[in-house]
Amino acid sequence: MLIKAQAPSNIALIKYMGKIEGTGNRPTNTSISYSLPHLVTEVCLSPSSSGVDEWAPLQNQGFVAPTLSEKGKSKFLNHFARLKDQWGVVGAFRIESANNFPSDCGLASSASSFAALTKATALLRYEMTGEETSVHELSMESRKGSGSSCRSFFEPWSLWENEGAEAVDLGYPNLLHAAVVISAGVKEVSSSQAHVRVTSSPQFEGRTERAHQRLRSLMGALQEGDWRRSFEICRDEFIDMHELFETSIPSFSYRTNESKDVTDACQHIWNFKGDGPIVTMDAGPNVHLLFRENQRDLADKMIDHFKKKHMVISSWRGFR
Ligand code: PMV
Repeated sequence: MLIKAQAPSNIALIKYMGKIEGTGNRPTNTSISYSLPHLVTEVCLSPSSSGVDEWAPLQNQGFVAPTLSEKGKSKFLNHFARLKDQWGVVGAFRIESANNFPSDCGLASSASSFAALTKATALLRYEMTGEETSVHELSMESRKGSGSSCRSFFEPWSLWENEGAEAVDLGYPNLLHAAVVISAGVKEVSSSQAHVRVTSSPQFEGRTERAHQRLRSLMGALQEGDWRRSFEICRDEFIDMHELFETSIPSFSYRTNESKDVTDACQHIWNFKGDGPIVTMDAGPNVHLLFRENQRDLADKMIDHFKKKHMVISSWRGFR
C-alpha cells in the first residue's frame, strides 16, 4: 500500500499572528491568503517495517527532500498520530515528504506540508475505514497541526475565521507570485514562538480590531478592483505584524536591511509609475510580490533586477 498526496502553500495578506491558548491553533484574528500552487509538498505513506511511525525524506524527481529538525519531525509525527486516533486508523507508517522548492531557502513550508500530510492521512482513513473526509474537516483538522495550513485547501483565495478556512471570491484568479529570497538561514525565532511572543508587545492591544478592519477594507478593495488600495492595506498589514515582533518583550526581528531595500524599491515603483505589485512579508526576511496578469512586463523587469542580488522564485519563471 502506498498513499500519495500533494498540497500547495499559501501567502497570507491579512496575517494569522496570535492564537487563543489551548484551542488547537484557533487564531486571535481572521486571516486571508492567496494560494501558491507552484510551491507544493508531496507526502507518501507506506507501512513501516520498524513497527512505529517514522519520517524520512522523500526521494522524488523535481522535489527537494527537507532536512527536518528533531522538533519539526516530532511536530509532524504528533499531527499524524492525532489524525490516526481521530479517524480510527491503526498501524505504523512511514511518512516520506518533500517540497518542489528548495527547502533551505527560507520559504515557510509548514502550510503545504501539514496540509499534504492531512490529505494523505484522509486517503489512508478512506482506504482503511471507507469513511470520506469533507474539505471542511480536512481544513479544520489540518489547522490543529499548523494554523496556516488550514487555508491550503482552497484556491485562489482562502478566508480563515475560526475552526477552518473557506473559499472566498475576490476576483484576480490568476495573480503572478514571486518571492525574493533574502535569506536561506534557519529562523532564530520560529513562527510558533512568534505567536506567543507578540502578545507581550504593547502594540498587540487593538491588533484584532486592526486586522479585522483591514480584512474588510481589503476584501472591498479587491472586489472593486482597487489594486492601489489593496497594495496599501497589505503593506500596512505586514508592517503591523513585523512591528509586533520588533516591540515584543524580548524583541526580535526578521526584517533585514536587504529586505528593506527590496520593499523600498517596490514603493519607489509605485511612487514613480502609480502602479506596482502587492508586497508582503511573512515571518521571515523574504519578500513576496503579487502581480496582476497584465503586469507581466513589469514583473519580468522587477525579477531581472532583484535576481542580480537574490534568488527569486516565481510562479511563471521558476527558480532564478
Ligand atoms: O501556521 P504557523 O503556526 O506556522 O503560523 C504562520 C503564520 C504566518 O505565516 C506568519 C502568517 C500567516 O497567516 O500565514
